[in-house]
Amino acid sequence: MVTDLSPTTLPQLIQGGMGIAISSWKLARAVASRGQLGVVSGTAIDRVVACRLQEGDQGGSIRKAAETFPDQGLATRVLQRWFKPNGLDRPGTYQPVPLFSVNPPKALLELATFASFCEVWLAKRKATGPIGINLLEKIQAPTLPILYGALLAGVDTVLMGAGIPREIPGLLDRLCQHEACSLRLNVENGADVEIPFDPRIVQAELAPLPRPQFLAIVSSHVLAMSLARSGGVDGFVVEGPIAGGHNAGPRGWKVESGEDPIYGPKDEIDLARIQSLGLPFWLAGGMDSPTSLAEAQALGAAGIQVGTAFAFCSDSGMEPTLRRRAIAYALAEDVATRTEGRGSPTGYPFKTLNLNGTEGGRDAADRERQPCNHGYLRTAYQKADGSIGWRCAAEPEADYVRKGGSAEDCVGRRCLCNGLLATAGFPHAMKSGGIEYPLVTSGTLRDLPRFLKGRSDYDANDVLDELGV
Ligand SMILES: Cc1cc2nc3c(=O)[nH]c(=O)nc-3n(C[C@H](O)[C@H](O)[C@H](O)COP(=O)(O)O)c2cc1C
Repeated sequence: MVTDLSPTTLPQLIQGGMGIAISSWKLARAVASRGQLGVVSGTAIDRVVACRLQEGDQGGSIRKAAETFPDQGLATRVLQRWFKPNGLDRPGTYQPVPLFSVNPPKALLELATFASFCEVWLAKRKATGPIGINLLEKIQAPTLPILYGALLAGVDTVLMGAGIPREIPGLLDRLCQHEACSLRLNVENGADVEIPFDPRIVQAELAPLPRPQFLAIVSSHVLAMSLARSGGVDGFVVEGPIAGGHNAGPRGWKVESGEDPIYGPKDEIDLARIQSLGLPFWLAGGMDSPTSLAEAQALGAAGIQVGTAFAFCSDSGMEPTLRRRAIAYALAEDVATRTEGRGSPTGYPFKTLNLNGTEGGRDAADRERQPCNHGYLRTAYQKADGSIGWRCAAEPEADYVRKGGSAEDCVGRRCLCNGLLATAGFPHAMKSGGIEYPLVTSGTLRDLPRFLKGRSDYDANDVLDELGV
C-alpha cells in the first residue's frame, strides 16, 4: 500500500524519524496502528541490525523478518556473519562493521539492504497505517542500499532532510524498477563522484515495486520552492529551530564563529509561500500540545510532525534506563537542551540534552577521541594523488589534520555516531578500555508531565491521545 496523500486521507500526524534507532520499528508500528504515519529511522540501520544480531536477536524478530526476505541466500549470509545465539561475551565488544565508501564490500551492501528491509517489514507487520523511513541527505554513502531494502519491504513514504535531497525522487523511480543507479557524493577539494548501486545484489525475480511518496524536510520556504520546482516531491515537513536533532542554522550564522546559533524573526518560515506550492505540509518543532494540530491546520498545514514526545515514550528505541533517567531529570527540571553550534561534525547546529553521565553533560573537550569506527558523518575529500579519502572532525585531531583538515575544525565536536548508538543501547568499547558515552538529542521537554499524567512512564498511545489524533 502506498501512502495516500490525497487531501481527504492525509495523516494528521507524522511521528518524526529519529536516529539512531530511536524511531524503531516498535514505535513506528505503534503510531501506524493508530492510522497515523509511523516512521523508522534508516540512519545507521546496518550497524543497528548487526548489533541486535550480535546480542542474540532478542525475541527473534530479525530472524522472523529474514524469512520473508526475497533472496534467502543473502539473508542466510547476513545471519551467518552477524547472529550470535549467546550474545556478546562482554558489553560493548561488537564486531566491527566495515565503513561505507564509494565502492563498499558487497557484504556491507547486503547487510544494509537486509537491515532496512527488516526494520520496515517489522514496522509494517500488523500495523494498519502507513510506514515511512527517514534518512539524512548529508549521509550519502549508505543511502541507496538502505532505500532499496526499505522499498523491498513496501515502505509507503520516504522522508529526507539535513541537506538538499534533489536526486532522491528520481533514484526512487529507478530503484522501484530494480535498475542500477548512482548517487552523487560531494568531495571536498575535488570533483564530486558517483556512488554506484546495483539492486541485483538481491537475486530474485521481482516485479516493479510501488513508488513511495517522497517528503522533503525543510527549514526554509526558499528550499521548499526550489525542491518543488525540481519535481518528484510529494510534500514537505517544515521544521522550526526548536525541533530535536539537527537544525538548520539561522540566517547569517557560520559554524566557524564558534557561537551557538540564535534564531530571530528573519528565520521565520513563510508558510503562505509554502502553501502556495499546492503540496501538503506538516509543521515540526514543539508541536506537542493539545492545540498544536488545530493551530497547524489553521496555518494551512495538513498536520504536525512530532519527535521529542515519542523519543521518551516506552515504545521508543532509547535505552530504557537512560530514557527513564532523562524523564526523572526532566520532571525535576534538572536538564536543558542546548543548540550546539559546533557539536555535530556535520556543521549543522545540533540539540544536546545536558543530562549527567551522558556526552551532553560534559564539555566536548573532555571526550576521549577515538579513531572513527562507524564513519557515517565522515566527509569525502580528494587526496593529493587524486584518490578519495574520508575524515571526520570528531576523530582524533592529529588524524584529521594529517588528512588535510584544519585543527580549528575539530574544536567542540562530539562523536555523534558512537554517542547515538550508545543511546540506542549499543555502546561500543573504546580501545583504551572504557565504553562510549550516550548522547541524547531532544527538543523541549516541557510537555512531558502532560503525557505522564502523574505516572512514571507513558507510551505512544498516550502521546497520540494527548495530541487529539
Ligand atoms: C532523538 C531525536 C532524534 C532525531 N533524529 C532525526 C533524524 O535522524 N532525522 C531527522 O530528519 N530528524 C530527526 N529528528 C527530528 C524529528 O524527526 C522531528 O522533526 C522533531 O523532533 C520535531 O520536533 P520536536 O522534537 O519538538 O517534536 C530527531 C529528533 C529527536 C528528538
